[in-house]
Amino acid sequence: MNENGPRDADVSAFEPPEPHVIVLFGATGDLARRKLLPGLLHLERAGQLADCRIVGTSLEERTSAEFRNFAREACEDFGRDEFDEENWRNFERRLTYVSQAAGPAGPAGLSTAVAEAEASIGQPARRLHYLSVPPKAATPVIQMLGEAGLVGRSRIVMEKPFGTDLASARALNEKVHQVFPEERVFRIDHFLGKEAAQNILALRFANGLFEPIWNRNHIDHIQIDVPETLSVDGRGKFYDATGAFRDMVVTHLLQILGFVAMEPPVALEPQSITEEKNKVFRSLQPILPEHVVRGRYEGYRDEDGVSSDSKTETFIAIKASIDNWRWSGVPFYLRTGKQMAEGARIISIAFRPPPKSMFPADSGVGQYGPDHLTFDLDESSRISLSFYGKRPGAGMQLDKASLQFSLSDAGKEGDTLRAYERLIRDAMGGDHTLFTTADGIERLWAASAPMLEDPPDVQIYDRGSWGPKDIHDLIQPYRWRLPFERRWRD
Ligand code: BG6
Repeated sequence: MNENGPRDADVSAFEPPEPHVIVLFGATGDLARRKLLPGLLHLERAGQLADCRIVGTSLEERTSAEFRNFAREACEDFGRDEFDEENWRNFERRLTYVSQAAGPAGPAGLSTAVAEAEASIGQPARRLHYLSVPPKAATPVIQMLGEAGLVGRSRIVMEKPFGTDLASARALNEKVHQVFPEERVFRIDHFLGKEAAQNILALRFANGLFEPIWNRNHIDHIQIDVPETLSVDGRGKFYDATGAFRDMVVTHLLQILGFVAMEPPVALEPQSITEEKNKVFRSLQPILPEHVVRGRYEGYRDEDGVSSDSKTETFIAIKASIDNWRWSGVPFYLRTGKQMAEGARIISIAFRPPPKSMFPADSGVGQYGPDHLTFDLDESSRISLSFYGKRPGAGMQLDKASLQFSLSDAGKEGDTLRAYERLIRDAMGGDHTLFTTADGIERLWAASAPMLEDPPDVQIYDRGSWGPKDIHDLIQPYRWRLPFERRWRD
């Protein structure tokens, strides 16, 4: 980030991709409707689809015309730009659909649909298979791609969760590797596609200011806090089989922790970044049940698709540790949950107080907690640095002040790609930088084993609260940073 704004996701920085056929599995599902189809429409508008066809497929019986209607509604409801007829017409002509319902289609039907899409491009195209399907459907889809002869010239994008524990993640990775080598697998974690997540790397490694203090000598503790006001919103069946840990922590929160805690990579390229992130995961200490609080919001068991004796957590808070030279003794607190008081995505770095204070106790020193560097992973990609300063006037009273920066200050907000857009575009270009690897994922499942094998009981929390009361004991002697004492400035 500099005064010219964040260039990394500036769409003009991308070369147009090679011709592509994107095969969208789960094309009529929730993610496709909310994020993937509107995201692809935005890539159209940004001139990033070039010669591309999109073959939608799912278990639902639909014609291509019906699928286009579905996609149009999805884009109207969830698109980020004002709906534009001309943009839509350009996009719509790329879309076809083939059903995977029992019947005539099957692998042969898919293979024909892809061949037709390729023929309409008129030159050899790459294939990007996007698996927006539940975990247990991933292996059959991969096998089917083999049977349909659709592995050549292909990359595959896989949605989380990647397995449900170490054994299942290993088994899944093995099955995937029987068909696709690791370099053609893109495990997507949309948090890493967020502009603000990449800004962590920029801030840490493009400046001489922060890196010298980015360690146990100067940092007291770190919080990665992602409360959500959402309920399970029509995703009860998926969520009840998944829970907050698998839905959010082992994926998004720990991946962000990887960016916050990694050593400087040798270069800004996929292999170096992955190596450093995976080293952090190797140093992550086993997550012990006594360092975990699990919660369930009042009334969760009455949600559609949720079992009436569900033991699934809708909230989780964890104290994690990284046992290496940089981070030994610095606790990392992670928290996320549904139906909480506020929605936020905050990373908060708390700095140690000065070794000795010359300010009298009644001056206000330390009264508002430690100095913090705070990242907001929201679209506005805000950063704040808070510190004590002198209150203007007589005497020496101290107040907490902050320096704040937001993407809108750079005047570049409109140029950026949203997480899914960015990541689809990266996968089309074969860029692994923001994707996760089989090794990294397996390591995270290994560290999670003690908690998964003996999970603490779920405690009930009120809707609209900050979680079960035990979260305060978990973070002692510190305090949760949220709710903020002071709001972000507009
Ligand atoms: C998804 C989870 O991966 O991330 C959802 O499945 C969660 O449960 C969502 O709500 C949060 O993502 P974002 O980008 O809206 O913060």
